[in-house]
Amino acid sequence: MDRYLVFGHPVRHSKSPFIHTLFARQTQQELEYGLAEPAIDEFANALQVFFAQGGKGCNVTVPFKEQAFTLVDRLSPRAKRAGAVNTIKLTDDGVLLGDNTDGAGLVADLKSHGVTLADSRILLLGAGGAARGALAPLLAELPSELVIANRTHTKAQQLAAEFCDLGPVTAQTYEQLAGPFDLVINSTSASLQGELPPLVPALIHTDIAIYDMMYGASDTAFISWAKQHGARQTMDGLGMLVEQAAEAFTVWRGIRPGTKQVLRELKRNLGVI
Ligand code: ATR
Repeated sequence: MDRYLVFGHPVRHSKSPFIHTLFARQTQQELEYGLAEPAIDEFANALQVFFAQGGKGCNVTVPFKEQAFTLVDRLSPRAKRAGAVNTIKLTDDGVLLGDNTDGAGLVADLKSHGVTLADSRILLLGAGGAARGALAPLLAELPSELVIANRTHTKAQQLAAEFCDLGPVTAQTYEQLAGPFDLVINSTSASLQGELPPLVPALIHTDIAIYDMMYGASDTAFISWAKQHGARQTMDGLGMLVEQAAEAFTVWRGIRPGTKQVLRELKRNLGVI
């Protein structure tokens, strides 16, 4: 049976095996999908062993995405732009192809929620790996403006300079931000510590769409905060997780699984519904 897995550290709580097993069942593909948690300095070796032993493809998550970028034979254009690889496929001619499906997953999830990206003003919070992966797919949707704000302003400036050939992207400090924005995407890891990016409440209004790439059994700190200040449409990153997986599955198997039912089952599994 064709073998796939996700590399990460820690990875025990990953929902990828659950999601891909449901995709395989739905599309009647014969495959198995597991977990691998190599020591931090053992990833390169573990990756090589997995493919030498017949593995067909893998996902890569924190903290190995940047390292995976350097280990594959060939990069997709979107992986090159993201500077990170979250999906690897062994092609029929033995080439390890590195791809990045995170940004496509974000855009697909935003669209499935009915969020309009064309001509919109988007505020992207954070300038780390997650922000970098999101920029090209967001700019491809032709927003009227995309502003990056980050605690360390120089990182936002670097990112804006790197992507300004793709669209109207600028960097502003949290203090400089002036609304109205149509969509705020939180790509920071602040929610992991239950912290908030230093956004002023005046930027939140009833018609704004709020997206947190993080997710949990209950609202993230950022989503709770936005709701308190009047945001009516809030979304967490669970849909993005399923959509990026669907994109990876399509890369591997050439067949696109449906995501709605899988997302519902994942929510049930996590006790969210
Ligand atoms: P990832 O790959 O998930 O993006 P990362 O590359 O470590 O992770 O980036 C984390 C991002 O969250 C950074 O933009 C970080 O801001 P700094 O560049 O200033 O470090 C941001 N971040 C983390 N904790 C934060 C907090 N409490 N408030 C605001 N931003 C925070």
